[in-house]
Amino acid sequence: MKILLTGGAGYIGSHTAVALLEAGHDAAVVDNYSNSSPEAVRRAEQITGKEIRLYEADVADKNRMMEILRSEMPDCIIHFAGLKAVGESVAKPVEYYRNNIDTTLTLIECMKELGLSNIVFSSSATVYGEDNIPPFTENMPKGVCTNPYGWTKWMQEQILTDAWFASEKEVISWAKAHDGDAAASDSGRVRPRELSVVLLRYFNPVGAHESGMIGEDPQGIPNNLMPYISQVAVGRRDHLTVFGDDYDTPDGTCRRDYIHVMDLAEGHVKAAEYSLEHRGAEVFNLGTGNPYSVLDMVKAFGDACGHPVKYEIGPRRAGDVQDSWANADKAKEILGWEAKRGIAEICRDAWKWQSGNPNGYDR
Ligand code: NAD
Ligand code: UD1
Repeated sequence: MKILLTGGAGYIGSHTAVALLEAGHDAAVVDNYSNSSPEAVRRAEQITGKEIRLYEADVADKNRMMEILRSEMPDCIIHFAGLKAVGESVAKPVEYYRNNIDTTLTLIECMKELGLSNIVFSSSATVYGEDNIPPFTENMPKGVCTNPYGWTKWMQEQILTDAWFASEKEVISWAKAHDGDAAASDSGRVRPRELSVVLLRYFNPVGAHESGMIGEDPQGIPNNLMPYISQVAVGRRDHLTVFGDDYDTPDGTCRRDYIHVMDLAEGHVKAAEYSLEHRGAEVFNLGTGNPYSVLDMVKAFGDACGHPVKYEIGPRRAGDVQDSWANADKAKEILGWEAKRGIAEICRDAWKWQSGNPNGYDR
């Protein structure tokens, strides 16, 4: 398959490019490098020994995206491009809504004009909100998000689902109007095609490719747990602050479903393949189904790097949910995918990346 990855120079996109090439697919990347470096794509090429066509562009720029998509005509688009820092989204909501919603609307318009029909989208477990009780299943009602970033994911899921629904109706009315004559033209309009939308709700993507050549490269002070732990372990930061130890959990710290980024990447390969055969809008959790606490991860990382990771207990972080983990049965049953790597591999690979690249891609 020919697959185009928007935001493919980023953390999850670059790992997914590797998994796609290793599965025998062809990959092209579009990125504006607002939170990444082309170096990640170069390294993905080195890991696989295969070429990735790379376009520097803003996915919200429709003219440019029409040009790129017309020359690529991919079988599937995987839409990673987006802004993702929760705290920043509270300070800059308009920038987040503009970027995340506009990129999605632009892609849908281009797809329609070019007759492209398959899209896989990076959503987040954050759409389950605060009131659902884990393990989260895809048929639970979406919840109330605690920040603009979460709402952009919530809304992008809705926009893509509505676009699929309209595409199905359009195909039915076209078929009626042409009385079963599939080849008929309608004043030169592109024959409508029913969309295939696959919404992937990621749990907590962590770790790095086992080569240690690509990994997560946050700018400034990391917001997320695993990059922070890695930077403490490598000596870039003094200690981790654990956000609260008074939750109703066995050790008092929050529990999450940490998924190795290569397992997540392999889930995208299955999702892209599925998008070819299937029509509709379908949601899948990509998680392991196993919760681990903050202190479990601190301990596992210490074991992987050979020395304890220094931490202090601090107050709770506003907006944190106590528990979040997936029921991952649907992806196993329908996509034939399940996570294979555990927290020991996650910490081993994150450490290999961090210790080999203490300053990330040095961008
Ligand atoms: P990332 O920031 O590393 O990658 C996103 C990429 O998109 C970056 O390379 C950035 O430069 C690019 N980009 C942003 N806006 C763009 C635009 N308008 N045009 C072109 N490129 C643009 O983030 P990631 O962790 O790889 O996340 C990928 C996707 O998965 C994002 O949509 C994110 O919201 C979603 N997601 C991530 C997590 C996580 O924990 N990492 C969890 C759930 C969902
Ligand atoms: C966060 C976002 C979520 C987003 C996800 C991936 C919030 C409230 N949620 O999820 O919307 O999809 O990142 O980008 O920001 N922790 C510490 N100390 C730290 C950092 C984190 O104790 O320095 C704890 C947190 O309290 C949490 C766990 O570690 O219990 C995981 O945190 P994090 O990696 O930020 O992910 P989430 O909060 O699950």
